[in-house]
Formats: sequence, structure tokens, C-alpha cells
Amino acid sequence: MEKFKFNYRTVTDLEKDIAKYKLELPWQQDLQSLKEPISVGAGVVPNRLAIHPMEGCDSQIDGSPSELTTRRYIRFAQGGSGLIWFEAVAVSEEGRGKSNQLYINDHTVESFRILVEKTRQAALETNGIDPYLVLQLTHAGRYGDNKIIGVHEEELDRRAKVDPSKPVVTDAQLAKLEDDLVKGAKLAQQAGFNAVDIKSCHRYLTNEILGAHDRTGLYGGSYENRTRLIKNVIQKIKAEKIAIEITVRINSYDAVKYPYGWGTDKDGNIDLAEPKKLVQELGDLGINMINITASTPYLAPHLSRPYDQPTKLGYIAPEHPLLGVDRLIHLAKAMQQTVPDVVIVGTGYSWLRQFAPYIAAGVVNAGWAKIVGFGRQAFAYPDFARDIIKENKMATKRVCVSCSKCSELKAKARLTGCVVRDNQVYIPPYLELMKEMQQ
Ligand SMILES: Cc1cc2nc3c(=O)[nH]c(=O)nc-3n(C[C@H](O)[C@H](O)[C@H](O)COP(=O)(O)O)c2cc1C
Repeated sequence: MEKFKFNYRTVTDLEKDIAKYKLELPWQQDLQSLKEPISVGAGVVPNRLAIHPMEGCDSQIDGSPSELTTRRYIRFAQGGSGLIWFEAVAVSEEGRGKSNQLYINDHTVESFRILVEKTRQAALETNGIDPYLVLQLTHAGRYGDNKIIGVHEEELDRRAKVDPSKPVVTDAQLAKLEDDLVKGAKLAQQAGFNAVDIKSCHRYLTNEILGAHDRTGLYGGSYENRTRLIKNVIQKIKAEKIAIEITVRINSYDAVKYPYGWGTDKDGNIDLAEPKKLVQELGDLGINMINITASTPYLAPHLSRPYDQPTKLGYIAPEHPLLGVDRLIHLAKAMQQTVPDVVIVGTGYSWLRQFAPYIAAGVVNAGWAKIVGFGRQAFAYPDFARDIIKENKMATKRVCVSCSKCSELKAKARLTGCVVRDNQVYIPPYLELMKEMQQ
């Protein structure tokens, strides 16, 4: 198969591929649209550049942030992004992915408060802004050590090494998860976050339930049942009058075929009817910001994080990464047009390297998304936002090269960051991992 790579030296080179693949990607040389503040509920995001949630697999044993975690968020804060979406954080021991995943609870909440304080202070001192901070709350589901399954699907079970005869999570466990997420929101408010994200993406448990068409009981089958958990959590947080904004990072589609997937028909094609209905209902429930993503890296990583170099875990992308970027941008556009009053945060920009700001500005200017987020780019180049805002460009020598090494580290729950651009910290765990994989 032909190897597709980022090989653009000039805008004209990139434009040739945009034309070749008949893509529609807006381009804007003037970056002013990215520098404008925007309100989210009672809060303000000081500019349109976001850092997406990126797990660093570096918590302390009790789930509190380590020195390395704090370093990461201080670097993000110094980088000037208006919105920092903190990585997936567990709300229960059962739902903690690994023993190095952050975990917010009564004992660790004070350490999160200190992390928030340091993050805000770093942003203020370096850039004079108060960034909008979101905490992503999660249950790792099938991808955690406990392998808790919402619904069995052959391919996902095989890849996650799940026993197909293992009983699925009970309705009582899901009802408890609702309460754990509500408690997580209360703790996030105490820690000083602006918002919590009821994570519903990438086939972690809450997302898996959205696609549980063949599940029986309260949380499976009908659309109402499958969306019950997420709506119940929102309603409970509101009923308890917890003074925190609620957001959701949600899959636009899973690429898991009906009857196991979300936003996907029986042939595996995108079907946005239900995702659009849900974002509309979330808007009606008072959700002011939604982060749009897709699929799961454990199945088809090119769909959620277009890359040049695949991981060594054996998956080769069947398409040019630019098609993946274009698809993610258009999925966010479809959602933004469905809920024009909600702030949609778009995903899929890191692969564009130094050309990302111009497409991001075009997207925001065209109203396809109100905020544009970067994941791997933030690991490689945490102050990309400051350069976009102050210099009107990104430094070519500092960009993420989508080599997938951070994905490899994360997949094996090793200290995770940019092996190329932050090599002093992340080459040692990467070399150790490579050595182990060769044995
Ligand atoms: C190492 C790594 C860790 C990630 N951790 C999270 C996470 O905690 N929560 C989440 O929703 N997405 C997570 N993602 C997905 C990213 O937020 C983002 O959607 C993805 O990398 C695509 O954006 P990009 O092209 O800008 O990198 C992770 C991705 C990587 C590579």
C-alpha cells in the first residue's frame, strides 16, 4: 500500500492535495478569529485555541498528580491556550484505567486544587490570561485493568483481550457510576475547575453504552435507554446545584457497526441522526460546550488521530491522513450547525503541523466550530497557541510529526509525552518499552 505522509513545504503543496482529494477545508491567512474570547455559560475562554485531554500516565499511586503531571499542565498553561481540557481522570477505583491514571476522590481533591492553582498562576504570569479549565471524568470500561464491559463486540473484545463470556456491567453498577460522576463533579468544583466533562467518547464505558443496542435493561436498546446515563448525570449535577459548568466530549460516530456502535449504520457508515439528536438534547439540558471526536484508537486509530507513522502495534491506515483530518473537521461542522448556540470544540488539527493555524482560523471564521483543539501538538509544542497569537505562525521545527510514539507509550500505560520534542523526559521510558517489546 502507498505510504501517505505529510510532505508539504508550502501552502501550494497542501492545496494540491486538498484539490486532488476534492476536500473542502477553509483557509484564512488572517488569524484574528483565533484570538477572540468567547463565553461558555458564565465563564469566558480567552481565545479559540484549546488543548485536548491527553493522558500522561504519571499519577501518584493514590491518583493525585505527580511532579511530571504538574510540569505538563504548567507547560500547557504557559503555552497560552485559552482552554485546557484536563485528561481522563477516574472517579472510582473500579473505573481507573491503570494504577498511574489520575483519580479524583476525597483524599486527592486537595492535590487537584493545588494543580489548578498552579496552572492558573502560570497562565497569568506568562500570558496574562485566566484559562478555562475542564476536568474530564471517566470510567475506563473495557480498557481498564478491570475490563468492565457495557456490551460485547467481537473485534473490540479480541483487541482488548476481553473474555467474550464475561458478564456485562449490571444496571446497578451503571446507576452507581452515575453517582460517582456526580461526586466527581462536586470534587472538581471544589478543586476550582470551570467545568467537568462527562466523557462519552473513544469507546470507554459511557460511550460504549451509547451503542448498546442489543443490551437489555434500563441502559440498553432504545435511544432513550442508551442516552439515559449521560442525561441522568447532567440532571443530577443540576439537581444538586453543584456550581460547575457541565460539558461533554462525545463521539460523533464510533465506526463500530450496528447493533454495537454509535452514529454508525450496519455497513459501518457514518449515520449522524442519533448523535445530532443527542447534541440537540444536551443543548436543551443547558450544556454550553461540547467537544467532538470520533471512533477509538483501539480499533482504527487513523480515524481519531491522523498520523504519518503507525504505532508498532500493527495497524496500517487505509487512507491519506488528510482525509482523516477533513472528516473530523466536517463532523464538528455538522454538530456546530445542529447546535449553533453551543460552543463546539473541534478535533483533528495536529497532523497539519505548521499549516494548522490557517485552517483553524478558516474553520472558526466560517462558523464550523467555535474553538479548535490540539492533542499531540500540545505534547510536542505546548506553546503553539502563544506563537499563533503573538507571532501569527507556528515554528516548523517544533511541530508534532505524528510519529505515534506518544500513542505507543499511552497504549502500554508508560509515562506519556513527546519522545521527539521533549526527549530528555520521554526517550528513557520509550527505550525501555521498545526493549521490552523486543523480548
Ligand atoms: C497519548 C494520548 C493520550 C490521549 N488521552 C486522551 C484523554 O485522556 N481523553 C480523551 O478524550 N482523548 C485523549 N486522547 C485523544 C486526543 O485528545 C485527541 O483527540 C487526538 O490526539 C486527536 O487530536 P490531535 O490530532 O490534535 O492529536 C489522547 C491521545 C493520545 C495520543
